[in-house]
Amino acid sequence: MFDTDYFEQHLAASWLGRSFFFFDELESTNTYAKKLNDPVSGTLVLADDQTAGRGQHSRKWLTTAADNLTFSLIFTPSLADRVTLLTLACASAIEDVLRTFDKASDFSLKWPNDVYCNGKKIAGLLTEVIFNGNKVDRIIAGIGLNINQRKFEGELEETAISLALATGKQVSREQFLADLLVRLEYNYQRWLNASADLVKEINPKIQGYGKWVTLEVEGKKMPEKRKFLGMNEQGALQALNKELEVSTFAYEQVRIKLD
Ligand code: BTN
Repeated sequence: MFDTDYFEQHLAASWLGRSFFFFDELESTNTYAKKLNDPVSGTLVLADDQTAGRGQHSRKWLTTAADNLTFSLIFTPSLADRVTLLTLACASAIEDVLRTFDKASDFSLKWPNDVYCNGKKIAGLLTEVIFNGNKVDRIIAGIGLNINQRKFEGELEETAISLALATGKQVSREQFLADLLVRLEYNYQRWLNASADLVKEINPKIQGYGKWVTLEVEGKKMPEKRKFLGMNEQGALQALNKELEVSTFAYEQVRIKLD
């Protein structure tokens, strides 16, 4: 079971995670975060087990109970532009903290919402924007991060990894989360301030950055390869064609295929 006392004693973030809801079991931390009344910005909802964890494209997020980190953060910015950039700012914070626990593995970000370790997925993010009329009510960053799970079932056996599998060691989830919230708070602040440094820091971490890749736009592969130039400051993806023309794509439309 997650040791909430240890976590709260070691949390050094100034506002992120200070409002904290913990559950042994919950349908989905994102669903709970959506329903909370008047949450303060920085609220953390964490569950040891989710009965209906949600992933991208209405997929399920399945993990074993009390092995991993499954949580949601609530942010209340006044605008909900640059949401992909926020997702990647969170993914980048995860990557940074993973590196402090595992200096030997190869970590990268997969556009637009995954963290990879040694070619397998170690974390996924589901960011949801909730509106109240035409105003942004909250942004929920849902994070599923594989920490101590040693066995993955079915096709996940080939595609998923945890920090414990990568290092061969059990990791303190409480310490990891305490460290992560400090880094997430820093990246959120930089996202809010539209920091150019944040974008510069994230781009080289994204798989395919600076390479000639195939782009899949709305499910269809583009015939010509393009050089992936990373995100611009709006979080849109930029790519160069052989005629040296730069195109910009909104994130929802695009996937990057590495050959
Ligand atoms: C994905 O890779 O498809 C995104 C997975 C996001 C899973 C997390 S676990 C905590 C939060 N609650 C959910 O129901 N989903 C997110």
